[in-house]
Amino acid sequence: MSLQKGTKSIDHNLVIADRQFGAWKGRKSAIGNFKMIKLEAAELAAKIKEDVKAEIDGGLRVCLAAVRVGDDPASAVYVRNKIRACEEVGIRSEHHALTESTSGAELLDLVASLNARDDVDGILVQLPLPRAINETAIIEAINPAKDVDGFHPVNAGKLAMGRPVFVPCTPAGIMELLDDRGVEIRGVNACVVGRSQIVGRPMAQLLLQRDATVTICHSRTRDLAAVTRTADLLVVAIGRAGFIRGEHIKPGAVVIDVGMNKVSDSDEVRALFGSEAEKRLEVVAKRGATLVGDVNPSEAAEVAGMLTPVPGGVGLLTVAMLMKNTLNAARLRRQ
Ligand code: GUN
Repeated sequence: MSLQKGTKSIDHNLVIADRQFGAWKGRKSAIGNFKMIKLEAAELAAKIKEDVKAEIDGGLRVCLAAVRVGDDPASAVYVRNKIRACEEVGIRSEHHALTESTSGAELLDLVASLNARDDVDGILVQLPLPRAINETAIIEAINPAKDVDGFHPVNAGKLAMGRPVFVPCTPAGIMELLDDRGVEIRGVNACVVGRSQIVGRPMAQLLLQRDATVTICHSRTRDLAAVTRTADLLVVAIGRAGFIRGEHIKPGAVVIDVGMNKVSDSDEVRALFGSEAEKRLEVVAKRGATLVGDVNPSEAAEVAGMLTPVPGGVGLLTVAMLMKNTLNAARLRRQ
């Protein structure tokens, strides 16, 4: 039996069983005082990008057009990361950065021109769009064959029918991570907190396809903790810093934190990060804020069997899966 952290030789079932046996608040258990496993994603994200690069180095020309509208600083960072990943793997990219005052009609014209170009394989319109633009109309205007985000109703519908073509990048990345770490999906109680088109809904579909028993929770769910505490696998995507506390987590559960929130208040940082607070406060002093997910990391560490860190978790996989989807779009268009 090996219990080294961060390697594939960890006996997850034993860790989870131990947590369930020892139950709450870091109580010492019969087997020992096992630490929660951090599901770091950097290595897997690098591997996915390497595989894409190998195929592109073999001679395939691939191009992604990324469209951003307005000045949302978070969107600017996300799109920059996506363009950088394209450079890493050898995908040609175009960055269309439009002003906040761009009209829906102008954006539709751009999407139509990208649809018509044979040299463009993938089109990504970064969300959210400015309020004045009808997001649904823009997503529906993208050619489903170039919809590398998997947001078009044709792709969402195919996923819901169990015939996925382009799957939204974040849930697709989470499935890769769970498989890479040998986390059991078939038959487990999975709970997805959040019902967005980008994460919650497609995540639930993917887990259902793999024979999990899936519950979707949202802002109107009654007694959220009572529901989430039944979950062997808990995926949280609600955009609220540290919202999921220890009481929401079943001992030993695998917890996937999709949130990416900024915190700068020192009391809040201490409440969220426990023994790691000083390190995070240094980040706040240097950069003005630190990132935290939707799960309270210090409380989760006392209860969960595994947890994806923020940063260093799911976010890295989103970008890697975008590269994979773009490569697949190029392949499918050349068939
Ligand atoms: N906004 C937040 N996540 C995403 C994503 O995966 N794709 C796009 N296009 N916009 C987003």
